Amino acid sequence: MLGNVDPMKTRSWKELQKLYLQVKDIPVTSFFTGDKERAERFSIQFKDILFDFSKNRINPEILASLLSLAEECGLKPGIEAMFSGVRINETENRSVLHIALRNRDNLPIMVDGKDVMPEVTRVLKKMEGFSNQVIHGNWRGYTGKPIESVINIGIGGSDLGPVMVTEALKPYKIPHITSYFVSNVDGTHITETLNHINPETALFLIASKTFTTQETMTNANTAREWFLSKAGNPEFVKKHFVAISTNKKEVASFGIDTENMFEFWDWVGGRYSLWSAIGLPIILSIGYNNFIRLLQGAFEMDKHFRSAAPEKNIPVIMGLVGIWHVNFFGATTEAILPYDQYLHRFPAYLQQGCMESNGKYVDRSGKKVNYATCPVIWGEPGTNGQHSFYQLIHQGTQVIPCDFIAAAKNHNPVGDHHDKLMSNFFAQTEALMKGKDLETAIDELVKSGRTLDEARRIAPFRVFEGNRPTNSILYEKLTPETLGCLIAMYEHKIYVQGLIWNIYSFDQWGVELGKQLANKILPELITSSEVTNHDASTNRLINYYKRLRGQ
Ligand code: F6P
Repeated sequence: MLGNVDPMKTRSWKELQKLYLQVKDIPVTSFFTGDKERAERFSIQFKDILFDFSKNRINPEILASLLSLAEECGLKPGIEAMFSGVRINETENRSVLHIALRNRDNLPIMVDGKDVMPEVTRVLKKMEGFSNQVIHGNWRGYTGKPIESVINIGIGGSDLGPVMVTEALKPYKIPHITSYFVSNVDGTHITETLNHINPETALFLIASKTFTTQETMTNANTAREWFLSKAGNPEFVKKHFVAISTNKKEVASFGIDTENMFEFWDWVGGRYSLWSAIGLPIILSIGYNNFIRLLQGAFEMDKHFRSAAPEKNIPVIMGLVGIWHVNFFGATTEAILPYDQYLHRFPAYLQQGCMESNGKYVDRSGKKVNYATCPVIWGEPGTNGQHSFYQLIHQGTQVIPCDFIAAAKNHNPVGDHHDKLMSNFFAQTEALMKGKDLETAIDELVKSGRTLDEARRIAPFRVFEGNRPTNSILYEKLTPETLGCLIAMYEHKIYVQGLIWNIYSFDQWGVELGKQLANKILPELITSSEVTNHDASTNRLINYYKRLRGQ
């Protein structure tokens, strides 16, 4: 059982409210003036990853109060509860053990008196054997040809993590296999994908924890029909379709031989599942050994999270810095800005990770909270974002804390591209912090040839208030280990915040209502009669749709 502490009723929360009033108008730059070691003291290095949070309005007193808040809200016992298999997902009565999937020293992790590690190892071995067969051309299709295309059909956690990692680790890609991901129930997604596929060399991975998700099962059925329309014999399905699921019964009833099923368990949350069999498309893209390197990186971060002192613990500090901005500065969104093209799906992946975990207004006692929880997560790679939405980050009316993420070494060192990329990475956080005052803006305009009157008129539009909060995350190179570390770092940040916000981070009841209603509406779309049983707006929309669509 996790504790049940209203964070607003803690001593530290009240203290932080006072501290907020003291610092809210103080320029961040002044924190540096009085403290030559600020950059070192407000950053943490873990392996080659440097996490710098010094460009936020945080001083030693604020940091101490944030750490006390974490303590008052049961951070340490909360972390231990997760690592020791306590059923911290209380509304689903489940343990939360994605950490077991990358527990590379194999020490026992017990759930209900049973060590889960032998099962984890068994499935990993099965994935290794299978992927080696496919990669080395020994797994043959119905006409005897080796596999060339792997099509993962899944959605949410059964898609976003594998896509993100497959994209991020493209430099490690096995050249003769092409990966595809189909998630959307929009027929366009499967149709456009199948246009590229030769059924003789295709391997479909049907990835669904429940094996009942509408989108995935619809796409899987369409893929199977398409396959059978080409291959003919249903016997051939087993060479071309495998399942990744916790639900043996549904897999069998879909018609996939359970021999060709890769299992995981109810203690793996969908959005935390890329480390499990859900990672099979990753293995088929980069090979088993690189997948193990990914797990190893996450394992290192797990050890850090479990054992490092809170003030030296990256996920803890990330979580607290976020809470400082959301709950005291009123930030409602947070931007993830990787200056690393290979991480282009990282913001989308974290949208599910953060928002499905902590986008909740009911606390652990079942009451509505009276403080903000998860901000909206969004972002795009730099420098693209600079030419689109950075205007608002610099001069908009909202506080938008940003995480800037970059590698020192590029996988594609072409000319001076990387130094140019990195000069932007450094410049943006500096600009966001320092801003530009009116005097400087006028001065620059005068120097560029404007009259003083003109300069005074134009200058207000060129002022930057600065003090826009950023974290910088800088590492040597985006290797599988580093990526594993980065992902686990954010996963644990999410948990830290959930612990403090006193919410259950590992259920997702908020996705159910829409699914229920869609199931009710679907049969109504099939009939030709007018729909009248919804609200007037929904009735009208459905009936208009039916008219436009035709019968
Ligand atoms: O609808 C949300 C959700 O349940 C996610 O939590 C999950 O990752 C996704 O759907 C897919 O679920 P499944 O793997 O069971 O198909």
